[in-house]
Amino acid sequence: MSLDRQCVFITGAAAGIGRATARLFSQRGWFVGIADIDAPALAQLAQELGSSVMRFRLDVTRAEEWNAALGAFFDKTGRLDLLVNNAGILISGPFESNALARHDALVDVNIKGVIHGCHCARPFLARTPGARLVNLSSSAAIYGQAALATYSATKFAVRGLTEALNIEWQDQGIRVMDVMPLFVQTAMVKDMNAASIRRLGVRLTPEDVANVIWKAAHYRGSLGKVHWPVGIRARL
Ligand code: NAI
Repeated sequence: MSLDRQCVFITGAAAGIGRATARLFSQRGWFVGIADIDAPALAQLAQELGSSVMRFRLDVTRAEEWNAALGAFFDKTGRLDLLVNNAGILISGPFESNALARHDALVDVNIKGVIHGCHCARPFLARTPGARLVNLSSSAAIYGQAALATYSATKFAVRGLTEALNIEWQDQGIRVMDVMPLFVQTAMVKDMNAASIRRLGVRLTPEDVANVIWKAAHYRGSLGKVHWPVGIRARL
């Protein structure tokens, strides 16, 4: 038995882009799984969204937590129409001024977390006709940016993973895409140099990005349409 409406599972849902995405899909009638390490903020969001939601305290770097969360979600819903691998962290500053442990943390959350999500979700996606997977990469996956070297490296990795899996999983009926925003007004960029953000132009809202995730989730065109830039003009 599966629910008679579409189901999405979103990581990093307690704040920023993830929260806006959870709100949008919920308002439009989807059943929503929300996951994050920030349990209090997640509980608040769950209360706001009402009964069509399941929440999970999930650290995306931990495979066993992925298995428990997605297993419980699928037990309840019987389907996984969309996974949004949104959780991510940003550490900025001159490359050499950050301790290696901070570079490791970026790799763990932004790359390992996404790989775990894709790996764990695949069987559930494959059992759901028309399933999609959307990863959050970034404009930093298109061009390297000073003071964001390792962050850029992680987002290039997500971009590569996305392209490869979209080909590899075609015969399983799973479409894989990434959304690539320029700077978005969230807690993530609050400490970044305001002048460099202004120089880059637009400041997007989390809702702008949620709308693009919605479009990607419903796109029925060419399978070659993998990348969804937001706020940047890029030929991809
Ligand atoms: P945010 O900092 O507002 O929210 C990120 C959420 O992820 C938080 O709720 C946090 O608790 C959660 N999180 C962090 N580590 C986690 C972990 N190990 N396991 C589970 N949850 C964890 O960030 P924002 O801005 O909403 O970013 C979301 C995604 O969009 C990230 O992947 C980010 O790299 C990407 N992005 C953001 C841009 C921006 O300018 N804000 C631009 C381009 C991409």
